[in-house]
Amino acid sequence: MSELSVDHLLGIKYLTKEDIGTIFQTADQFKEVINRPIKKVPSLRDITVANLFFENSTRTRLSFELAEKRLSADVINFSASSSSVSKGETLVDTVNNILSMKVDMVVMRHPNPGAAVFLSQNVESIIINAGDGAHEHPTQALLDAYSIREKYGDLKGKKIAIVGDILHSRVALSNIFCLKLLEAEVMVCGPTTLIPKHIDSLGVKVSHSLREALEWCDIANMLRVQHERQDIKYFPSIREYVQQFGVDMKLLNELSKPVTIMHPGPINRGVEITSEVADSDQAIILNQVENGVAIRMAVLYLLASKRKMSF
Ligand code: CP
Repeated sequence: MSELSVDHLLGIKYLTKEDIGTIFQTADQFKEVINRPIKKVPSLRDITVANLFFENSTRTRLSFELAEKRLSADVINFSASSSSVSKGETLVDTVNNILSMKVDMVVMRHPNPGAAVFLSQNVESIIINAGDGAHEHPTQALLDAYSIREKYGDLKGKKIAIVGDILHSRVALSNIFCLKLLEAEVMVCGPTTLIPKHIDSLGVKVSHSLREALEWCDIANMLRVQHERQDIKYFPSIREYVQQFGVDMKLLNELSKPVTIMHPGPINRGVEITSEVADSDQAIILNQVENGVAIRMAVLYLLASKRKMSF
């Protein structure tokens, strides 16, 4: 099996197309493992992983923890709210204290863009970015692309619309980098105020019409409006946002072809998609969550293998 070109997973922008292929092939093997009655392999036996979450998470935190346990790693979990960060300890001091307990790998979610890169330059450990502010969420993009590959085969030429709050979304940026590397076509769609200026320089199309985006695409990745990152009002009201950018079954049924619906979660039912859409056969949202465990097992295993830490 090929080695990754990187020592950390800091963002999709540091990966090559070959890296993504290697992660997907490894994830295929781990997906087979987690569907067996005995879902565990000894690949990370004697490795200790710290999951450091300075920001809330359900899916990513549990998915990493499960991936580590399926690989037989020892796992410690840290959440900022119950730590000494609130007493003024710096990020580097906090992580160095954790590493001195003989921890080998760090998975970190942090509200500040660039926090994972900063950590990789200032501590001696393998760092995996589990989301840094509005910057990158690389394992989310990998599991999203893997889920598209699972449904459609090759991503080359597939049309993916990313809809919603692009401006504040780390999922959008990582997805754009990942999908472009895999030669898919990407369109972003949302209110003018929630689409970054010059985003077309990343090689994506831009639309402010949901119907136009849905008619164009094979797959729509519906993003949540990230109120927690918004300091001003970007649209008049939720009601008007739903009228213009919310997907319901009536709209899906009016399209000239079926569109697959994705969502990274957490869903605001009735805002970006209705409950009926979220629970429909066109949605692959729970497949995305399922694939997240295999993708994270692959990333952990490949990074540990590069440092010759796995069995
Ligand atoms: N998709 C995602 O990152 O979800 P969480 O915030 O629950 O981890």
